[in-house]
Amino acid sequence: MKVSAIIPAAGSGERFGEEKQFKLLSGRPLFFHTLKLFLQSDYIDEIIVAVPSANVDSTHRDVLSMSAGKPVKVVAGGTRRQDSVKNGIDVSDSDSTLVCVHDAARPFVTEDLIQRSISACEFADGAVVGIPSKDTVKFSENGLVKETLDREKIWLAQTPQCFHKNKLLQALYYAKTENLTGTDESALMEAMGFSIKLVEGDSNNFKITTKDDWIRAEIVAVRQAQGTVL
Ligand code: CTP
Ligand code: MG
Repeated sequence: MKVSAIIPAAGSGERFGEEKQFKLLSGRPLFFHTLKLFLQSDYIDEIIVAVPSANVDSTHRDVLSMSAGKPVKVVAGGTRRQDSVKNGIDVSDSDSTLVCVHDAARPFVTEDLIQRSISACEFADGAVVGIPSKDTVKFSENGLVKETLDREKIWLAQTPQCFHKNKLLQALYYAKTENLTGTDESALMEAMGFSIKLVEGDSNNFKITTKDDWIRAEIVAVRQAQGTVL
């Protein structure tokens, strides 16, 4: 079974205030840290990075200098995250049957998470890494609590999110015809009734969304370099 990793890195970083994927973390652009882990992974056969169209050529040059033996393609992303993922799938190897989508903005993914999310697809249409909620979750409308959700059933979704490629393509096609936008690809698969396994994730696999997350990422990067990460 061949696995294509798709790294969406074509966002505008509205909540962060700039295109965070190119901001330097420990001297390298953020997305490099993420890409490196997929380059090193034993479970990934090729990697496709989606970046803003203005950055395709420069990213391609940068990636050439680091890719060791594994094919890496760079494509222009789209308006929505799901469009960036679709553009990535469109250039994937026709032999790959599984896709492993991972946010460029989660630079502390591990080989274990990549392996477990891929393995979980053996008995499901897809698998999503997530962490069980520690807090009680309130469902609200207009600033008022409507309902307290059963915490035992609440998971906070992360990536990697891995799917059988033909099924993800079906879900993306369905989303297009039904005009659906998902905050992740799993939501589009769920809308079609596909089975998605949950795989327990890791709190260090957080997404850099705001400047506070950047400070946390700098701390984790330093601790990793010192070998003292928790
Ligand atoms: N992404 C993408 N294409 C888009 C939108 C997002 O490839 N059209 C990527 C981002 O680059 C990021 C990942 O999807 O690696 C997760 O998205 P998010 O954290 O929301 O990043 P941004 O969309 O850039 O941030 P914001 O929503 O604050 O604008
Ligand atoms: Mg976004």
